[in-house]
Amino acid sequence: MTACGLDFGTSNTTLGTIHGNGVALAALEGGDTTLPSAVFFDFEEQRPVFGRAAMAAYVTGAEGRLMRSLKSVLGTPLIDEDTLLQSRRIGFRQVIGLFVNHAKTVAEAALGRELTHVVHGRPVHFVDGDPEADARAENALRWIAQDAGFKEISFQYEPIAAALHYEMQTVREEVALIADIGGGTSDFSIVRIGPERAGRADRAADILANDGVRIGGTDFDRLLSLEAVMPHLGFKAPLHGNLITPNGWYHDLATWAKINFLYTPATLAEVRRVKARAVRPRLLERLETVLTRHLGHTLAMRVEAAKIALSAERAHDIDLSPVEPGLDAPATRGRLAEAIAEPVDRLAAMVRSCLSQAGLAATQVDAVFLTGGSTLLPAVRTAITGEVPTAKVVEGDKFGAVGLGLTLEAARRYG
Ligand SMILES: Nc1ncnc2c1ncn2[C@@H]1O[C@H](COP(=O)(O)OP(=O)(O)OP(=O)(O)O)[C@@H](O)[C@H]1O
Ligand SMILES: [Mg+2]
Repeated sequence: MTACGLDFGTSNTTLGTIHGNGVALAALEGGDTTLPSAVFFDFEEQRPVFGRAAMAAYVTGAEGRLMRSLKSVLGTPLIDEDTLLQSRRIGFRQVIGLFVNHAKTVAEAALGRELTHVVHGRPVHFVDGDPEADARAENALRWIAQDAGFKEISFQYEPIAAALHYEMQTVREEVALIADIGGGTSDFSIVRIGPERAGRADRAADILANDGVRIGGTDFDRLLSLEAVMPHLGFKAPLHGNLITPNGWYHDLATWAKINFLYTPATLAEVRRVKARAVRPRLLERLETVLTRHLGHTLAMRVEAAKIALSAERAHDIDLSPVEPGLDAPATRGRLAEAIAEPVDRLAAMVRSCLSQAGLAATQVDAVFLTGGSTLLPAVRTAITGEVPTAKVVEGDKFGAVGLGLTLEAARRYG
C-alpha cells in the first residue's frame, strides 16, 4: 500500500507522497512540483500532452486543441458531455481522467511504486448553493480516481488541508483563518491548531468555520478580459439600428473553459452577419480573426499574464498583435481592481460570515494564512487581511500548501 495526497486544481495540480516521518511533493513535470491543469490534444501526433508542455504546444501553433480549467466543469452538466477532437468525440470526464492518470503515473515512476490510496482535495463547494451538484462533482472525481487505479479514495477540504500543513510550523496554539484563493474557488476555514493538537485523530471540534465560494483567478481573468481586451473585438460595440453586439460570444471567449465552444461554423457565420451591421466593422473583423485562427487561448493566456504582471507593476500593455499587428490593450492595476471589485467584496463578506459561523470577533483570530495563487493579487490580499486587522499575516506556500496538507492527512488516514 502506498498513499498520496492529490490536489487537482483548476489551474495547477500537485501530488505529495510520504517519506519517513515527513511528506514531499513529487516532481510532476521536469523538476517542477506543480503541473498546470492543462491538456493539449495534438492532432498530428494523435496524443495528449499535459501541463506546461500542453501550453507550449498550443502556443507554438501545433494543430490541436487545448483544454484548461477542467475542474470548473465538475458539478456542471458539461461533465457528462463530449467535446470534438477532429472527427472523434471525447467526454470531459475522460479528459480529466487522462490528466489525473498522467500525474499519478509520473509520480509512480519517480517513486518506483504504485500509488494505491489517495486523499483527494476538494473545494468546500464546487458549485454555490447546490448540494446535489456538489455531490455529483465529488462523485465524478471519485469515479475518475478509481478509473486511474486508486483502490482507496477519500476526500478532504482544501482549506483544511492547508491548515494541517500550516499547523506543522506553529509553536503554540492559535486560532487561524486559512484563505485559499485559487484559480476556480476561494475557500476559507477558521481552525484551532497547534503542536499539541497536530496528529489527533478527531479534529472536528477544532474546525470552527469552513466555507467557500466559486470565485477564483479565472474569474479575475474573465473580468479583466471583458474590461480591457474584448472591447477591441467589438464587445458592447454599436450596430446600426440602435443595437449592440450580442455579448455571449465575448463572455465565452473570456472564460477559459468555454473558449472551444466558439469554434463552430455557425458562430462564425453569425459573427459575419453581425459585422455587416456594425458601425465599426473593423472590430468584428478582429473577432472573426480570433475565431478562424483559434486565438482564444492565446488571448486568455496574455490576459492572465497581464493580471499577474499587475500584481508587481502599476501598468501593463496586453499585446494583441496575433490578432492585428501593432494592436495593444492597455491595462492598469486600478482598472483591474475596479473590474474585480464585486467578487473581491464577496470574498471579504465570506470572511465575515466565517467569523460569525465561528462565533468569533475579528480580533480573536491570531493568524491569517494565505495560500493559492490569487492571494498574490494586492486587491485580494487587502480585502482578506483587512477583515482580521490584528492577525499576523502568514505567507503560505502559494502553490504547495494544500497538496502537502492532503499528504499529511493521507499519512494519518492510511500511513
Ligand atoms: N502573481 C500573481 N498575481 C495574481 N494572480 C496570480 C499570481 N500568480 C498566480 N496567480 C493566479 O493564481 C491562480 C492559480 O492559483 P492556484 O494554483 O492556487 O489555483 P488552483 O489550486 O489550481 O485552483 P483551485 O484551488 O481554485 O481549484 C491562477 O488564476 C493564476 O492566474
Ligand atoms: Mg487550489
